[in-house]
Amino acid sequence: MSGITFFSTKNLEKIKEFYTKKIDMDLWLDQGGCIILKHGNMLLGFCEGAEIDKGGTITFFYEDKKKVDQMYIKFKDSARSEPKENEKFHIYNFFAEDVEGRTIEFQTFLHPIKPYLGGEELLRGRRSVRDFKDKEVPEEILSKIFEACRFSPTSRNAQGYYFIPICDREVIKFMASRRGGSSKPIQEAPMAVAVCCDPEETLRPIQDGCIAAYHFILTAWAYGLGTCWIAAMDREDVKEKLGIPKDHYVATVTPLGYPQKIPKTPLRKPKESFIKKEL
Ligand SMILES: Cc1cc2nc3c(=O)[nH]c(=O)nc-3n(C[C@H](O)[C@H](O)[C@H](O)COP(=O)(O)O)c2cc1C
Repeated sequence: MSGITFFSTKNLEKIKEFYTKKIDMDLWLDQGGCIILKHGNMLLGFCEGAEIDKGGTITFFYEDKKKVDQMYIKFKDSARSEPKENEKFHIYNFFAEDVEGRTIEFQTFLHPIKPYLGGEELLRGRRSVRDFKDKEVPEEILSKIFEACRFSPTSRNAQGYYFIPICDREVIKFMASRRGGSSKPIQEAPMAVAVCCDPEETLRPIQDGCIAAYHFILTAWAYGLGTCWIAAMDREDVKEKLGIPKDHYVATVTPLGYPQKIPKTPLRKPKESFIKKEL
């Protein structure tokens, strides 16, 4: 289920310019007398009318304090105060006004939150993370991620994949040292997860294991957690350390934790280069 919150405006053009240019909202739909704007999971509608709806507060939330500070620089003139921590709600926020005097708020949550990203944002926004905050992954978040990983597709629905959470620092250090710089990100995280697959349960252990690993990576991102695929961990020393049978497939051992910062998107090829013409 989805929804839109509508407000009445006396100046649709000005509102459109404000929310798209200053707040970077996307114009999701232009219906003529009404526009619908999108910011993450938020759909906000404005319709031309005789009155200006000013009730309530339109709150935009961001993944970290830095983004809130960046918005403060943009809104310094109309901000009612500098951004600060609100202990009661465990948020970091400030209030300002839009061009018609509505209250707008910019904030970040200072505690883990449930997933809110739409599909496209999740697919486009996920990054490989190699620097992590010194903050444990809560048990209940981990459990929710594994719950969602039940829905990874597998060959003939075999479901032969499994996860090994690794929290022991000595084991983490061992994993991080397997492949030099390539496996170093494991060292930077509070924990790691090995994604494996049992060939006795499926005819396609490599495909099932890799897809389950990507499913895990995407789900973790939806919960605000960073991962990084570490390649070539299907090795004897890794298996021996983790007690994995020799014939099982280790798709990856990924670090898992809250990103220190969200990395910039590495350059991507245009979609035309992925779509080959029929011969
Ligand atoms: C099969 C595979 C192997 C990878 N191996 C490593 C690795 O060993 N170490 C590492 O730091 N990143 C590794 N990565 C992450 C890639 O470098 C990363 O996905 C790529 O640069 C694109 O960045 P993005 O994931 O942020 O979009 C791997 C990714 C994939 C899919």
